[in-house]
Amino acid sequence: MIKVGITGALGKMGKEVVEAVKASADCELVLAVDIAGVGAEVSQGVFVESDLEAGIDKTTPDVIVDFTQPDNVYKNVKTYIEKGVKSVIGTTGLMPEQIKEIEKLSEEKQVGVIIAPNFSIGAVLMMMFSGLAAKYFDNAEILEFHHNQKKDAPSGTAIKTAEIMRREKDNFTLGNCPEKETMEGARGANHDGNIRIHSIRMPGYVASQEVVFGSSGQTLKIRHDSIDRKCYMSGVLLAIRNVFENNKFIYGLENIL
Ligand SMILES: NC(=O)c1ccc[n+]([C@@H]2O[C@H](COP(=O)([O-])OP(=O)(O)OC[C@H]3O[C@@H](n4cnc5c(N)ncnc54)[C@H](O)[C@@H]3O)[C@@H](O)[C@H]2O)c1
Repeated sequence: MIKVGITGALGKMGKEVVEAVKASADCELVLAVDIAGVGAEVSQGVFVESDLEAGIDKTTPDVIVDFTQPDNVYKNVKTYIEKGVKSVIGTTGLMPEQIKEIEKLSEEKQVGVIIAPNFSIGAVLMMMFSGLAAKYFDNAEILEFHHNQKKDAPSGTAIKTAEIMRREKDNFTLGNCPEKETMEGARGANHDGNIRIHSIRMPGYVASQEVVFGSSGQTLKIRHDSIDRKCYMSGVLLAIRNVFENNKFIYGLENIL
């Protein structure tokens, strides 16, 4: 049995993870942490608590899954590593230098961490297909669509997609005419390699992304839509089992599929 803790247990993603862990034969929910709803029972005998460190000391989880918010996730991950608890990080908004620092700490302390900006298999394939298409197209832009409670922009998935595409090419605006924005932000954010990222926030969406490629006389769109948060759960369970067994630092679900 893998003893699992969940930080952000009462959030939209946290609640799904609670149910997925409870339904899995090889995992046992031992800890639920959240800053809201303290005292609520999420599973038999498991009550929401707010003190992460005390909760870890009391329940000694093997793996903690984190779906909280961008402003606290870096501190949380450092706590997991310091306490020797392996972790699966779904919370987005970590900066590239923070991810590097986490990788260093994880390796120094020999405590596994899996960070995945997207746990749905369809989204991972969308990123991989975008990497493949990037070889053949000189122009590409990313449009990402999320619900309007998402705090960070652009999304972690958009950043990861751009990173994968950049492995194939340095410059994605070959042949464009000189541009001038007459309204700031009209052309989106500019990721390294001139991949423009456009973030749409709208009630009604869960998470969608469209990567648009173009060359003379043609466009190619690679699109993924998450329409229910259940789509992430098989990836989260896979990551829990992988970090439990392998105890490594991994960034991106594609590296454990
Ligand atoms: N990796 C993926 O596949 C994936 C998929 C969907 C969402 N996300 C990301 O997961 C994160 C959570 O998304 P959500 O939609 O569930 O958000 P949410 O706001 O519904 O839930 C976050 C929960 O974390 C709790 N929380 C906030 N700060 C905390 C802290 N310091 N300690 C403990 N609990 C804390 C909140 O009270 C809330 O219950 C976001 O960063 C989002 O972008 C990732």
